[in-house]
Amino acid sequence: MSAGADATFGPVAADLARLEEVIRGSFGDDHPAAAAPMADLFASGGKRLRPALVLLCAHLGEYRFDRVAPAAIAVELTHAATLVHDDVIDRSPTRRGRPTAAASAGSEAAILVGDHYFARAYLESSRTGLAEVVSELAAAVMRICAAELEQQAALRNYHPSLESYMMRIEGKTAALLAACCRIGGLLGGLDSPDREALGRYGNALGLAFQIADDVLDYTSEESELGKPVGHDLLEGSATLPLMLSEGLDRMLPDGRRLSAETVDAVVREVRSGQGPQRALARASELADEARAELARFGEREAARTLDALATYVVSRKL
Ligand code: IPE
Ligand code: IPE
Ligand code: MG
Ligand code: MG
Repeated sequence: MSAGADATFGPVAADLARLEEVIRGSFGDDHPAAAAPMADLFASGGKRLRPALVLLCAHLGEYRFDRVAPAAIAVELTHAATLVHDDVIDRSPTRRGRPTAAASAGSEAAILVGDHYFARAYLESSRTGLAEVVSELAAAVMRICAAELEQQAALRNYHPSLESYMMRIEGKTAALLAACCRIGGLLGGLDSPDREALGRYGNALGLAFQIADDVLDYTSEESELGKPVGHDLLEGSATLPLMLSEGLDRMLPDGRRLSAETVDAVVREVRSGQGPQRALARASELADEARAELARFGEREAARTLDALATYVVSRKL
């Protein structure tokens, strides 16, 4: 695990460390202009939740590191590419405590770096020899893009419906986590009902994970989080902790860009009100829904670790 994170990856911890070496070593084969920002992003941390899900779900069945490794690399490269692009879209200055690729190399370069690693992710996933792994990944990326487009369309609507918020976070975050779980199950040779249960686990886990991310955007400090705080609202995006706060309507005129001063004031109000707690309560319910999908896997060590991850995603500070 990277510094500051407190998830434990149980039976796959050693293999995740191996994977880390493989990924870092592989950047030497890429064009230096694409590899340098990506190597930098990897070196600066990250929780590696998505490859952990692939490995853990495979561990519920017949587990072989060499069989799962290409898929685990593919999902982390996909995630990293979405981060590089997301930081262009969100105009975010920092990620993992460092300047974003866009901030240091420019948006044009960041777009190409992201594109390069999406393509490399599909290449890696094809090394599993299973078309379904590639199609799972492709479908998840299409959902991420659609949800990011919906988020753009909803910018400066400070009063979105709960339904539209949930649909957005399902697309932008939960879809990839669900795909990781189904891919792991497939590579572990699990049957289709087990893989579907893992997909539902990953989806609920992803919803809880993104709600916690949205809460941290209000309640954390940049020095701890490694990315800016209050940034969602500054960019015009209303998320669950804001939506569940009271008495802020007059500060949030739909259609208008908010000044940095207004954002600071709203963040202070949200932090001191009930919104973050209410949002985390919803995340906890989703974590319970995720855990319930694991009952069929009994007391296997990987199942216990997946169970603990559902607790972790809500309580995390990073
Ligand atoms: C950040 O994901 C983007 C979201 C989906 C919230 P992570 O919080 O998993 O980012 P890293 O990889 O640990 O930095
Ligand atoms: C994550 O949403 C979306 C991605 C698919 C990368 P955010 O915009 O909330 O992610 P952070 O907070 O920048 O990591
Ligand atoms: Mg962002
Ligand atoms: Mg965020």
